[in-house]
Formats: sequence, structure tokens, C-alpha cells
Amino acid sequence: MKAPDDRVLIFDTTLRDGEQSPGCSMNLAEKLQLGRQLARLGVDIIEAGFPIASEGDLESVKAISREIREPVICALARTAAADIEHAQEALADAARPRIHTFIATSDIHLQHKLRMTREQVLEEVDRAVRRARGYVDDVEFSAEDATRSDWDFLVAVFEAALDAGATTLNVPDTVGYTTPTEYYDLIRFLKEQVTGSERAIFSLHCHDDLGLAVANSLAAIRAGARQVECTVNGIGERAGNTAMEEVVMALKTRRDVYGGVDTGVATQEIYPTSRMLSSIIGVAVQPNKAIVGDNAFAHEAGIHQDGVLKAAITYEIMTPQSIGRTSNDLVLGKHSGRHALRDRLAELGFHLEGDELARVFKQFKDLADRKKTIFNEDLEALVSDAVIVQDDTYELGDLSIMSGSFATPTATVEMTVAGERKKATAQGVGPVDAVFRAVAELTETKSELVRYQVNAITGGMDAQGEVTVTLADGERKVIGHGAHTDVIVASAKAYVHALNKLEWHKRRHAESEPRGI
Ligand code: KIV
Ligand code: ZN
Repeated sequence: MKAPDDRVLIFDTTLRDGEQSPGCSMNLAEKLQLGRQLARLGVDIIEAGFPIASEGDLESVKAISREIREPVICALARTAAADIEHAQEALADAARPRIHTFIATSDIHLQHKLRMTREQVLEEVDRAVRRARGYVDDVEFSAEDATRSDWDFLVAVFEAALDAGATTLNVPDTVGYTTPTEYYDLIRFLKEQVTGSERAIFSLHCHDDLGLAVANSLAAIRAGARQVECTVNGIGERAGNTAMEEVVMALKTRRDVYGGVDTGVATQEIYPTSRMLSSIIGVAVQPNKAIVGDNAFAHEAGIHQDGVLKAAITYEIMTPQSIGRTSNDLVLGKHSGRHALRDRLAELGFHLEGDELARVFKQFKDLADRKKTIFNEDLEALVSDAVIVQDDTYELGDLSIMSGSFATPTATVEMTVAGERKKATAQGVGPVDAVFRAVAELTETKSELVRYQVNAITGGMDAQGEVTVTLADGERKVIGHGAHTDVIVASAKAYVHALNKLEWHKRRHAESEPRGI
């Protein structure tokens, strides 16, 4: 895949580097939902997963390959033959497959992690890239921890990758260590020193440990890199990856500084994509986050408000509409019809039809009976409850609570467990604890509650509470969320949502052959 000099390719790794960070895991249905939105956003490459890492990753790369046809679909693999074969298997149905293979190149990693010599690393690079090229024409090679590697050794590594047939050469700042000037110099150096560099696209991949990921990415583009690896909302390992929305809007807003380069991103899809990701993983964006934070376009100071009212250009360097932000006023009410709901959801990035739309419409009507004003956030919560459900082993029915300053909190919960209707009563130290105990009894589950968080989705006395719970079952952690005008019901929904995810993982694991990494 060749980018012209004035085009920067957007390589989205939300589903791989983003998803592997704590609290950001997604199930198959959620990955597909986000994958479709990434295609609508217009990213060039979707890194869909690391197929050898788990059966779930293998399946989701397969599903995305089958369904999403426009962007290149990429699968990650270490240099081992089994990794590359899994990547190939996962990508078998992709219209435009890419295998992305990597090995560490810094002496720190060679000595302490790989216990390999430089010569052995060069042989691995050659073998892995050749093997991958045996399967697909589009092969990316990454030199993990490149920014702490010896520059001359990097030249040798990239030359080996190029000679073996790599088409994209990625220079990761794996530990978020580099600075804009250093990264600029490194990319320039590699482009000048690697024999045959003009045949490849140089790619950047930054982590945000020092808060420099976006600045480093932009510096690399100035130096001639033409692929940006990034994630929606900047999610990713530790402090995260380069935030897609920031780098795209910086390139668009400051074309003058970045040599007039363009991306293929439909920027009005940025905000819907950001909202969709947050509602799927249950991780809110910080209010002052650039581009997509709640306050990114909010003018509080009187002087600023006055200026913006006279001419938005006084304090706005880009418009909220350019990233797809519409007004957060009342969007729909009790009398709104199905079409109005469908159109509004589409603006938020959820393109629903048929049964899915009918399910959300019913829940929307129920909510409208309890809540006078319905905001975008309420709709997002409805969608994640009604649509992005992987497995309905457990279904919450009615519940009632007795609680207060002198009563022992007691919950009675009705549920359907694998088709069977059940009821249990339990006591706890508080109403939420009592409900969770009743649910655990009904489902006969013993997961550990790692985190419980409640937020008001919108303002107002009738605001819905949105609850996010993190449950652990051994090594596996999942997040569930639920929203309701009653926070106890929201808590029960979130808990059951998480249990369904754990159950789904358990079933997948049981169905699949064990595979080691
Ligand atoms: O940060 C990193 O080095 C990576 C590689 C696999 C590209 O994510
Ligand atoms: Zn990374």
C-alpha cells in the first residue's frame, strides 16, 4: 500500500494496542460494532487483533476480515512461525489483508527479554517477513523499542526487513521515551540511511508515557513518516497511544505547518466514534481532553463567550461541527417516532435497523415515561444495553429493595438463568451489596468485584445513573455497564452485563482447543 507524499495513512490500533490495556477489553460484538464505525470514519488500516494471543482475538480478526471490506485489515504476529500462521488464518477472508510482524531491537530487550544476539534478531526478521510475504503482499515490520535501539543496528534491521519483502517499516516508541526533536532526527536518519527506503512507507507508533505521543507523531510526519499508528481517545498500554482525533485534527487545522498533508478521515465521524468507544468500554473521556472532551468547545470566561458570539474564529480554531459534535440539548422526547430515533442514533454513530432498532425503540419509550428529557448520553446508554450484548445467559427480571438507616438492606431479585426463571432474596451491607449477593446466588457465580463506579449520565433530578462494574474471575477481567433512573437497578444491570461477558469468555474457552503463546 503506497501513500503519495501528501497523504498520511491512518493505522488504527484501538482494537489491538488499545484493547489490550486494562479496562478496555471488548467482546466480539463490540469489536465488530467499533470496526464498522472505524470504516465509516475512513481509517486506512484497522489492526484488528493479535490472533495467537487468544481464541477470542483469532475469532474477532476473522469476523472483522469477513465483514469489513474497505480498509486494510491487519493482524499482529511476533516473528515465530506459529504467530504468523495464526495471523494468516485469521485474515484468510480479508479483502485487503496485512500481516504485521515485530521483534524488539534494543539491547535492553535483547539482553533481558529475548536473550538473543543482534545476528539472531536479523535472522528472525528475515525469516518472519519472508514467511509473512509467502501469505500476503502487504507486510509491516516493527522494530519494538526502536527509540532505545542503536541507530546503526536499526538500519541493518530495516534493510533486512525490506530485502525480505516488508512494505511498511514501523519505528515504535514502545515505552514513550523519545522527544519530538529526537524522533524527527531518527526518522530522517533512517530514511536517509536505509538502502531502498524509498520502496517502503515509514510508520510511527508512539506511547504517551511522557505526554508526548501526539507531539512525537507530528514530528515524525514532518520528518517524512507517512503512516500514523493511533487509537481512538488515545487508549492503550499504560498512558496510552497517540490519540487519533488529536493527530488528525492537528494535521487538518495546521496544514500550513505539516506540508499540506491530508488524511482520508471523515472528521465529522470523530466525535461519534469517540462516544461509541467510551460507551462500549465504559471508560469516560476526561472533560478537558482535546477535541472530544466535554469542555473542548465550551467557553466559560466572559471575554471568550463575548468574542465567540461576535465571531467564533476569535477563540475557536476549529468548529465543533467539523468533528461531528451536535448540540447536546434535548434531542428526543416521549412523542418522538422510530425514524427520529434512528436518525439521531446514526448521528451518534449507531446505525441500527430491524430488530435492533425495535429493541432500542422500546427501551427508549420506557425511558421517556420515566424521564422527561432525553439526551445523547441517555441514548448511548440504551444502545449499549440493548444492542452490544454478546450473550444472554443471564437476564435480569424485576427486583425490589428494602434499605434505610435502620433496616438491614435486603434485595429480592428475579432472573432468567439459561432459560429458567428464578428468584432469590439476600442481605448485604448496603442495597447494592444485597442485590449483587442475590444475583451471585441465582447465577451460582463467584466473581470478584474489582471496581464499582456510578455517574449521573446527564444533569437534572431525573438523570439516569450509569454504573460501571469491573469483575474478575481468575486472570480474566471484564467491564459491565448499566443505566437506569434508579441506581440500584442500574447496578444490577451492570453486574449482570459483566457476568454475561464472563460467561461468554468461559464458553469460548471451553469450545476452543488450548493454544499456547
Ligand atoms: O508499542 C509497540 O512497540 C507495539 C508494537 C507491537 C508495534 O505495540
Ligand atoms: Zn504499542
